[in-house]
Amino acid sequence: MSSWLMVAGVKHRVRRRWRASLVGTAAILLPPSAMCQDSIRRLDVELGEQVFNSVCRTCHSTKNGDNRLGPHLHNIVGRKAGAVANFGYSSAIKGAGFVWDEKALDRFIANPDEAVPGNGMKPYGGLPSADTRARLLLFLQSLEQNQ
Ligand code: HEC
Repeated sequence: MSSWLMVAGVKHRVRRRWRASLVGTAAILLPPSAMCQDSIRRLDVELGEQVFNSVCRTCHSTKNGDNRLGPHLHNIVGRKAGAVANFGYSSAIKGAGFVWDEKALDRFIANPDEAVPGNGMKPYGGLPSADTRARLLLFLQSLEQNQ
């Protein structure tokens, strides 16, 4: 009798473990849930902030009106190029005549001289990684959503 109970107990435990591993496998195989995608996005924004801090912050602030060596980047996504009134832009940026949408920003951050020849954003080497640029843009956009 007691040995039968032991066998039943082992069987029960094995079944529970099997079920737990099935749940684990499903979690790996299923596409990321909305919650998962949300935390991945938050992580990307954080990584973008780190990129901003290490590559752009020496010359730019994201606070409205806070111009440094470069113009402030408050609401930069969707802002007209060369639009900060009291900043001394190069004529290249001042006369660029376009709006900084995601594509224009991506090109400029990748290689400013190619995107806007004659610009004065120097010294700046460019960010060759598309992933890094995408995260940086997510960070800049996230600031606008918080306001
Ligand atoms: C060495 C200083 C420096 C660094 C580093 C730098 N910038 Fe700039 N940035 C400038 C200056 C100066 C200008 C103005 C350029 C001009 O007038 O031609 C500028 C202009 C810009 C503009 C155009 C703004 C407008 O109002 O039209 C954007 C966008 C921009 N920078 C984004 C960035 C981003 C994003 C980074 C980091 C990846 C970065 N910059 C790194 C100095 C810098």
